[in-house]
Amino acid sequence: MTCWHETAFAIEAPRIVFGHGALSEAGDHARALGCKRVALFTDPRLKDSPHVAAVLRQVDAEVYAEVNVEPTDVSFRNAARFAAEGRFDGYISVGGGSVIDTCKAAALYATHPAEFLRYVNKPVGEGAPVPGALPPHIACPTTCGTGSETTGIAVCDVLSLRAKTGIASPRLRPTLALVDPSCTATLPAEVVAASGFDVLCHALESYTARPFTARAKGPRPMSQGANPWSDMGSREALRLCGAHLVEAVQGDLQAREKLSWAATLAGIAFGNAGVHVPHAMAYSVAGLVREFRMSGYPQDEPMVPHGVSVVVSAPAAFRFTASACPERHLEAAALLGADLRGATPNDAGELVARALEKAMQATRVPNGIGAVGYTGNDLSALTKGAFVQQRLLGNSPRDVSEADLGGIFTAALRYW
Ligand SMILES: [Fe+2]
Repeated sequence: MTCWHETAFAIEAPRIVFGHGALSEAGDHARALGCKRVALFTDPRLKDSPHVAAVLRQVDAEVYAEVNVEPTDVSFRNAARFAAEGRFDGYISVGGGSVIDTCKAAALYATHPAEFLRYVNKPVGEGAPVPGALPPHIACPTTCGTGSETTGIAVCDVLSLRAKTGIASPRLRPTLALVDPSCTATLPAEVVAASGFDVLCHALESYTARPFTARAKGPRPMSQGANPWSDMGSREALRLCGAHLVEAVQGDLQAREKLSWAATLAGIAFGNAGVHVPHAMAYSVAGLVREFRMSGYPQDEPMVPHGVSVVVSAPAAFRFTASACPERHLEAAALLGADLRGATPNDAGELVARALEKAMQATRVPNGIGAVGYTGNDLSALTKGAFVQQRLLGNSPRDVSEADLGGIFTAALRYW
């Protein structure tokens, strides 16, 4: 019998240097990659940080520090203009996911100029493939979260459409990631909490994503679905988050190092498998924000930090998806520290959701979408905004209708 289902998976592994002191290798790597005119991307808060100074001691670079904490099409375009005018042959990004994503987009539009929406994911943009390689990009994350240094994804808000979307291409993946956990020592607790839950959700969504064998054979997307390679990273990242997330938020430096490693592993996993329902919902939770501001973050504009926008929907989302692959949800709950004695497959969603809620309570992150400013009146806009994220929803282990999404948002209004 002919099998029309996918039977093989690809391993797209980024190059990574991980550990204390990794940042001190930036200059050597830039030279080895042949970079002569280097642009260093960072944000206003990090501009005068020891991390940026450490890189500038090794590399002569032009600094761009105008990165928005949650990037928009406008901030991407401004960064791209800087990159085009500078005619750089190498890029270094020092910062969180926003900085790394902005650097990817700037290098893309400077190298392959186009109308902004050309490379942006459908349905917001045209989703055109990136036509050629980009100059070397060394990504140096300073948070323990997004995993952006290992993925080919750049996320932004399209302001005129009030839509959060992104650009996804393997060509956007940084050439090298220098992950130096000492950068996380001075992060505010709220930033560690938000980025830590982003890590946890990357791992949990990749682990429970529709398996790669469920896809029809054909061109292989970047998000292939769960596979043995991504499973390996997801499991270890879940175990590390279960054991160390709370202590990392409380300031324990060893725990922050463990969380940095979890972020790296989870980044590799989700860059390879793909995330699903909580990240799809996060697009509208972040995109439709009205007044919410979180301490530890810049207060000038209302903003739901990415990791918070993901985790506020996660317990409700996993209660929904568990019936599609209860064993995986149970295993994830156990890795997060849940007691599985006497548990049956029917308990899988509840157990994983409770493990999440317990960690959310312990780290004082907002208690559902109500706590970041939404009410019952917002449910239809939130649902519409998330339902267009079909690229992500297609990765869900269980089919998700618009009505299902509405139900999950309702359940996510408040957990305790
Ligand atoms: Fe994320």
